Amino acid sequence: MKNILLLGSGGRECTLAWKLSQSPFCGTFFIAPGNAGTAEYGVNLPISYNDFEAVKQACIEYKIDILFPGPEDPLVAGIYDFFKSDPKLKHIIIVGPSKEGAQLEGSKAFSKKFMERHNIPTAAYKEFTIESFEQGIAYIKRSEMPIVLKADGLAAGKGVVIAQNTIDAVKAFRAMVMDKQFGKSSEKVVIEQFLDGIEMSVFALTDGTNYVLLPEAKDYKRVGEGDTGLNTGGMGSISPVPFADDAFMKKVTDKIVVPTVKGLKAESIIYQGIIFFGLIKVNGEPFVIEYNCRMGDPETEVVIPRLENDLVELILSMATGKLNEVTVQHSARAAGAVMMVSEGYPGDYPKGRKMTGFDKVRGSMLFHAGTVVKDGVTVTNGGRVLAVTSYGEDIKKALAKSYEIAALIDYEGKYYRKDIGFEF
Ligand code: AMP
Ligand code: GLY
Repeated sequence: MKNILLLGSGGRECTLAWKLSQSPFCGTFFIAPGNAGTAEYGVNLPISYNDFEAVKQACIEYKIDILFPGPEDPLVAGIYDFFKSDPKLKHIIIVGPSKEGAQLEGSKAFSKKFMERHNIPTAAYKEFTIESFEQGIAYIKRSEMPIVLKADGLAAGKGVVIAQNTIDAVKAFRAMVMDKQFGKSSEKVVIEQFLDGIEMSVFALTDGTNYVLLPEAKDYKRVGEGDTGLNTGGMGSISPVPFADDAFMKKVTDKIVVPTVKGLKAESIIYQGIIFFGLIKVNGEPFVIEYNCRMGDPETEVVIPRLENDLVELILSMATGKLNEVTVQHSARAAGAVMMVSEGYPGDYPKGRKMTGFDKVRGSMLFHAGTVVKDGVTVTNGGRVLAVTSYGEDIKKALAKSYEIAALIDYEGKYYRKDIGFEF
């Protein structure tokens, strides 16, 4: 039996909590800080996951064997290295890379250079700083539009601008580099070619040598129907992805997944954990848009329900370098998740709205994101409130079921996109 501490408080963590707690190998299970949903599967601890000292104390007090950071921040900030350099903590299995490995997500420039070294298909790019500002402007002026500008560091999903013309591109570049729009994160900017295609997400769990692929997914990032309006953390997701057939996935494996895992090993970058490949399919070929060092949200809400293996067993195989002995079983059923959000999201939104209808739910899964229990009542506590995930013979049927359930859950100002999966 393994005692587990899961870090995070979103729909991703609620889904992971649901899965981990089903394992016969799961001992005492904690989530920090968690939400109203995770409390059904384990004990929520009121600590911030960015407070490594507090996480350390919890790990010692509760004799934790496995630490699973859900979000990227603690990984990019080096929680792996913090644990491995402390004699009291270094025996703990961490599902996630070293600080250096997490740079695949934490620095766009690092990931672009990594892909270049290993011939991994990605958009052509150049990087610029304040010192090379004039060259950056010249580069924009001679580039084809649209063009993509990316703050080098973490920017809570807001650091990417797709500029349609030179004037907007120069404006965005100046705001990032000169006006430090994203602070240190935009001191360096990657400017890259715009790729026109359809996106999807692929997830590998690696032990540093071997890897297994989890079910693939597609998420819907825009707030409005027909993929319009502002970018959000994600309004829904589907798995499997209809266009990701065997031939395409073979290209993904051969051109992207294998060279990434081999590249990390060849460069002695310590990486045991999730590699999230944000991909785009252009004329039948896969390109990497971005790497992340953690699971996606809301992709997890469909990927994990379709994973038939025991997740704790997979983590233990990862820790012992034996993922080559594992066969991953993807469910034959499809899964579709609809994210219910608060009015106003992704802008300002109200909190504390009383939620009802949970007792009417049958046959679907509710993965809480922004919820909290106040005085015995579940209330909204975030922009993304709750993911409804259902299984079905195909994604249309799965989503139809999720929509039936979403109609039953109520709170003032509830909103969700009615067209997840619309293009299939
Ligand atoms: P990222 O944070 O790198 O994932 O970028 C956020 C979003 O911007 C992606 O999910 C894409 O929709 C879009 N994007 C990023 N890079 C490109 C690119 N080179 N071409 C087209 N779209 C892109
Ligand atoms: N759904 C995209 C992400 O988690 O980054």
